[in-house]
Amino acid sequence: MRIPLIVGNWKMHGLLAEARALAAAVRAGAETLNGREVAVAPPFTALAAVREVLQDSAVALAAQNMHWEERGAFTGEVSPLMLREVGCQFVILGHSERRQYFGETDAMVEQKVRSALAHELVPIVCVGETLKERESGQTLEVVTTQVRRALLALEAAAIRRVVVAYEPVWAIGTGRVATPQQAQEVHRWIRNLLREKAGEVAAEVRILYGGSVKPDNIDDLMKEPDIDGVLVGGASLDAQAFVRIARFSPARERE
Ligand code: 13P
Repeated sequence: MRIPLIVGNWKMHGLLAEARALAAAVRAGAETLNGREVAVAPPFTALAAVREVLQDSAVALAAQNMHWEERGAFTGEVSPLMLREVGCQFVILGHSERRQYFGETDAMVEQKVRSALAHELVPIVCVGETLKERESGQTLEVVTTQVRRALLALEAAAIRRVVVAYEPVWAIGTGRVATPQQAQEVHRWIRNLLREKAGEVAAEVRILYGGSVKPDNIDDLMKEPDIDGVLVGGASLDAQAFVRIARFSPARERE
């Protein structure tokens, strides 16, 4: 059974006062949500403040990135121990903005995934094709390479603990959402790739969709059998919109 997971990726937004207010509103709105998990990923500087606001609530804390080492001479980086200490349960890894603007490679993502798992953080591993790749018919090939490189060296038991996020780059921040059918096609493909390596464990892995998720498209996306939740950017900065997304209907368990 896969419990739907709704994650708000705040990206580089959220000075402390804004972050506290947004977290408090999400907390209040998510209080009565049953049968789904909700998490927010504030910037590093706001993690401690948001953790305080979310204390003893059902909303979990996620980080947006991480280095794979525990400590060392890595100026500007944040380690898994630091994320654990501040109360993170999840960490987003390999987001396309990290790949595109900061040169993250599949090999780096793989090391980060291993390290996150070793530190009992749930990695949310992002994959997805660019517009050029989609238009030239390479979507499944690109996603296959990213998934294989990031995950397929892991044991089945480790794969069980991973969350995958399919985020087509052309749908991120553009208002151009993938159709539920386009997303479902890739989600099913990803689950089949995981099945090759991990057998029936693949049925337990949550695969999220990300890219221009909004209150008006969430219900249709969540009807698809292999879409197990969403990774929300822009709309997660508006508590009301984010809570509405988390309240998607129909509620149902995925098996
Ligand atoms: P938008 O929801 O703003 O398109 O961003 C998606 C995203 O990148 C989430 O990680």
